Amino acid sequence: MVQIAVLGFGTVGSGVVELIDKNQASIRGRFPEGIHVKYILDLREFPDSPYHDRVIHDYNIILNDPEIRIICETMGGKNPAYAFSKSALEKGISVCTSNKELVAAHGPELLRTAAAHNCSYMFEASVGGGIPVIRPLLNALSQEYITSIVGILNGTTNYIMTRMEKENMTFEETLRIAQEKGYAERNPEADVEGHDACRKIAILSSLMTGKTVRYEDIPCEGISRITKADFGYARNMQMGIKLLGMAHRNEDGSVNVRTAPFLVSRDHPLYSATGVFNAVFVHGNCVDDLMFYGRGAGKLPTASAVVADVVDCAVNLGRNVDVAWSDEVLPLADSSKEVRRFFIRAAADARDSLLSAFGSDLEEVSSDTPAADECAFVTAAMSEAAFDEAAAGISGIRTWIRLF
Ligand SMILES: NC(=O)c1ccc[n+]([C@@H]2O[C@H](COP(=O)([O-])OP(=O)(O)OC[C@H]3O[C@@H](n4cnc5c(N)ncnc54)[C@H](OP(=O)(O)O)[C@@H]3O)[C@@H](O)[C@H]2O)c1
Repeated sequence: MVQIAVLGFGTVGSGVVELIDKNQASIRGRFPEGIHVKYILDLREFPDSPYHDRVIHDYNIILNDPEIRIICETMGGKNPAYAFSKSALEKGISVCTSNKELVAAHGPELLRTAAAHNCSYMFEASVGGGIPVIRPLLNALSQEYITSIVGILNGTTNYIMTRMEKENMTFEETLRIAQEKGYAERNPEADVEGHDACRKIAILSSLMTGKTVRYEDIPCEGISRITKADFGYARNMQMGIKLLGMAHRNEDGSVNVRTAPFLVSRDHPLYSATGVFNAVFVHGNCVDDLMFYGRGAGKLPTASAVVADVVDCAVNLGRNVDVAWSDEVLPLADSSKEVRRFFIRAAADARDSLLSAFGSDLEEVSSDTPAADECAFVTAAMSEAAFDEAAAGISGIRTWIRLF
């Protein structure tokens, strides 16, 4: 039996402990010795849990127990998760994590530490929760030249946008429902302002390029400026509005990465990812289009990804499972040169200014709930810089959204 410890007995950590019990037979199919959770580290006691007798509060007990070979870090946050993970890896203890914040900030360093101490650092659950996407990128697609990755990477915002679209509700109404249902945190900023999705596309684009894409370098916008009125036009245009994280290789090999809300056609496979579901759409030069779809969060779906990593670490005990992600920072291509179409919704009296600034290529669009005091257009394909310049002097613009 391989002995492991779980750090953080919250949503994901408790799922990991439960899944290891529940699926021990399947685990033994891949790793006949089996896996046993010896310790659970948390700040609290859990007297009602069947696992209460394994709960401890001193991390050093885990670090100094030579039986512990693998740790699941499911606490979240950078500290003390970083210090705990680093010290474990330095002792040759493999670490499996669901913590995207830590992976996006310190992934390459922790991978290097693992390699130096013949153990592994694995993070399948850090992107897309239960969706296997990191392992396919590293293994099944390792021979591909991946040209783009576009993902609906945050279930909270996708739930909000889906309800706004389908039920004609406001952002504030849907956010409140998402909070009541436990899909959104009381402080929803990390989700609705796009930071969570940004960290995930930073991880995916780092794996796509093998270099470090710093999430601080990625232009990041959230969904809080998207209104009920925008969805009136989106529905009439046979589109939805989705928060996308996207990484795209240009012909010269340079890479653009962005997190922002986009209008997505109902014909595109990503449109079908609704509610709390996530989807990651990958294009490779030989395999063409692929889509990974599933539950991007939740206790057992996320635990499933963590435990898959635990089993992989167990099978490879004493060896490092290599991940091609170097420390070298990838300078991103100039985001102002990205070219696409833009939707603009404006006050009716801004019509003439819009037509003169954007030219006759503007295509007028209408809403399924028209308002007499406004007009809306879709531009021709143009660069971000050209759009900003043309839009700059027009005071009546109410919103604008990029088209995917
Ligand atoms: N929930 C999901 O569906 C999901 C999906 C994918 C990825 N993730 C990621 O997985 C990680 C965990 O998420 P979660 O939803 O499971 O969080 P959670 O429910 O808040 O669980 C975290 C647990 O860790 C404990 N903890 C915090 N600091 C600790 C410390 N210093 N020592 C010991 N225990 C500590 C917390 O105790 P207290 O409650 O007492 O603070 C809590 O029980 C996060 O990085 C999250 O982004 C979550």
